Formats: sequence, C-alpha cells, structure tokens
Amino acid sequence: MTSPQQIEILDLRHFNAKQLRQLLEQEADLWFRRLRWDYRSSTELLLQYLDSRILPGFVALDRGRVCGYTFCVYEGHKAVIGDLYASAEHPAPLDVSHSLAHHILETLNSSPDIERIEAQLLLFDSGILAPAFANLNPNRPAFSAFPRLFLERKLTPNTATPLPPVPVDLELCGWNASFYQPSAELIQRAYQGHIDSTINDQYRSLAGSLRFLHNVVRFPGCGTFDPQSSWVLRDRKTRALVAVILCSRVAPEVAHVTQLCVAPSYRGRRLGGLLLNVCMARITQHRYAALTLTVTEANTAATRLYAAAGFTTRHRFDALVLDKKPHRLRLV
Ligand SMILES: CC(C)(COP(=O)(O)OP(=O)(O)OC[C@H]1O[C@@H](n2cnc3c(N)ncnc32)[C@H](O)[C@@H]1OP(=O)(O)O)[C@@H](O)C(=O)NCCC(=O)NCCS
Repeated sequence: MTSPQQIEILDLRHFNAKQLRQLLEQEADLWFRRLRWDYRSSTELLLQYLDSRILPGFVALDRGRVCGYTFCVYEGHKAVIGDLYASAEHPAPLDVSHSLAHHILETLNSSPDIERIEAQLLLFDSGILAPAFANLNPNRPAFSAFPRLFLERKLTPNTATPLPPVPVDLELCGWNASFYQPSAELIQRAYQGHIDSTINDQYRSLAGSLRFLHNVVRFPGCGTFDPQSSWVLRDRKTRALVAVILCSRVAPEVAHVTQLCVAPSYRGRRLGGLLLNVCMARITQHRYAALTLTVTEANTAATRLYAAAGFTTRHRFDALVLDKKPHRLRLV
C-alpha cells in the first residue's frame, strides 16, 4: 500500500511529452470506455503544449514513476483546471488525485490575480473530489459543486421519428459561418441568470460567448465540429436567430451536442425538441450509433426535454466553482 507521503509532486513544466505520453494514452482509453469519447486528438494537442513547457500544473511521482498529472489554463482572472488524472494502475489513485488537487488549489488560492476557479473533471464521479476541494480555511471562500449528467441516446436506423413541422414564423437553416456572431449573442441572452452561467462564466458576456464558440467550432479540444448536424432557427420576419443546436463528432460513431439554446421569448414552443430531433435524424442518416451531451442536473427544463427524447444517464459528475467575488445569481 502506498502512503500519501511516498507521492512526490513536481512542477509539470519539468516534464516533456515523452515522459507523460503513456499516462495520457491510458487516460484516453478511459475516456473511450466510460464516455465513448475518442480523446486522442485532445491528447496529442496537450502533448504539444507539454513540450512547449508553458502549462501550469503538477505531476505526481511514486518512487520515480509518473502516476498522475494536472494542469490549468488562465483566462484573465480566471483559472480553469483543464484536467486531473491519476493512473488506474496505481494502488491508490484517489490519494494521488487528492494530492494533485491539493497542490493546484494551493497554487491558485495563493495567486492574488486569480478571482475565480472552475473545474469540470468528467472522469470523476460526483462527490468523489469533494474532500480535496473542501475548504479547510474558514477565511477563504468555498467551492460550490453543481452535479451534472453525461447523457446518451443510442441510435439505430429506426430511431428517426417523423420531424415535427417548423412553425410558419420560423425558418430552419443548416449551420454556416454567418451564424457565428448572432449565435454568440443568442447564447449570452439565453443564459442570462441561468445556473449554467454560474458554472461557466463565459456565458455571461458576449466576448465570453464568442470564446466558448471558438472552442467548440474552431478548436479541436471538444471533438470535431460537425456543421452538417448543427442547425439554427430564425425568425422569418426579423431574421433574428431564435434557437441553435451545435454538434461535434467525438468518436467515429458518436456525436455530442455542445450547445442547445432557445431565446427566452421563444421558450415553451418545443423548439429545443425540434432542433434535437432534426439533429438526431441527420446523424442517424450518417450512421452514428449514439448522441451524447452534458446537462446540469438542476436544469429541469433541459433534463425533461432530454428524457422525453430518449436520453439516459451514463455518468454523473460535478462542476466545481470557486468565485472570490460572487455575482448575483437569479435562477430561471
Ligand atoms: C432547455 C431549452 C433548450 C428548452 O427549449 P424549449 O424549446 O423551451 O423546450 P420545450 O418547449 O420543449 O420546453 C421544455 C421545458 O421547458 C419549460 N418551459 C415551458 N415554457 C417555458 C417558458 N416560457 N420559459 C421557460 N421554460 C419553459 C417546460 O417546463 C418544458 O417542460 P415540459 O416538457 O415538462 O413542459 C430552453 O429552455 C433553453 O434554451 N434554456 C437555456 C439554455 C439551456 O439550458 N440549454 C440546455 C443546456 S444542456
């Protein structure tokens, strides 16, 4: 049995891609087994960053052997813990995870510039990291945990249901680049006062929503964006965008909804369900075997919609957020 004292924690910037490749490939296997997500392109991207020695983070060693790692990225005054992984081959992976979490949180908590910390570590079951993120110092603000669900809808050639008609005042359009800016504006409006903008503060501003879109549409970190299964609804008269669904390929046979939102004044008209059905019909045609997505458990409008569309829970994890300057939250 390994005691936590035997685990040595070193700065990630002392390590190159070659030293961490095996650990990251092992993690990619786990992503595929647990979430049907082919993580290999993210792994390769991360390895490139590691070689440039710019990522802040830590590596765990047990008797000289790499057994875990974590890193974060900075976005202005915010730090996002991008990953935390302990080898399943280690006899005490949870001790390693807690040790890594403790080190990265100590660093971020003692950085006066960092006002906010976000983490969504999908491979950990909800609650499992709570002791590591618990606040031991009563003078410091504490992390809030928001349980989130990883949902899956299995698809077969018979899945496609007849599409409900598009309301006459609206027009259904396939994604194109001209929808980029109006989609960011729609996202900002759709998440105003919403629990998801507490979890991800990008949703609170136009600049942040544009960054979110950039990550989803142009950056390969969250699968490969699939314009053919991404759609918008717009108002025929005003031409304003009223709803959007964005979808990426995350494995050869698996698609993932990275965004679904409807403008507040158009809610309750089943437009979210309409876009979901259009997307499912298209990916079924393209022989995908499953559609996945993540949703905040407390977002009941969305969870009801997904349950009605046949999604089931594959995994429950936490979004962890520490805001040193909490904004006023108005849940809708
Ligand atoms: C979740 C969302 C996409 C649903 O879209 P929608 O077109 O309003 O969906 P529906 O009309 O099928 O309504 C879904 C649920 O919303 C609720 N709803 C109905 N009218 C509403 C209104 N005017 N305002 C808010 N919610 C309403 C209902 O509870 C409904 O549940 P029900 O099936 O039990 O009746 C939409 O509420 C939204 O954009 N929310 C903000 C962004 C978001 O949460 N996206 C999902 C992230 S995973």
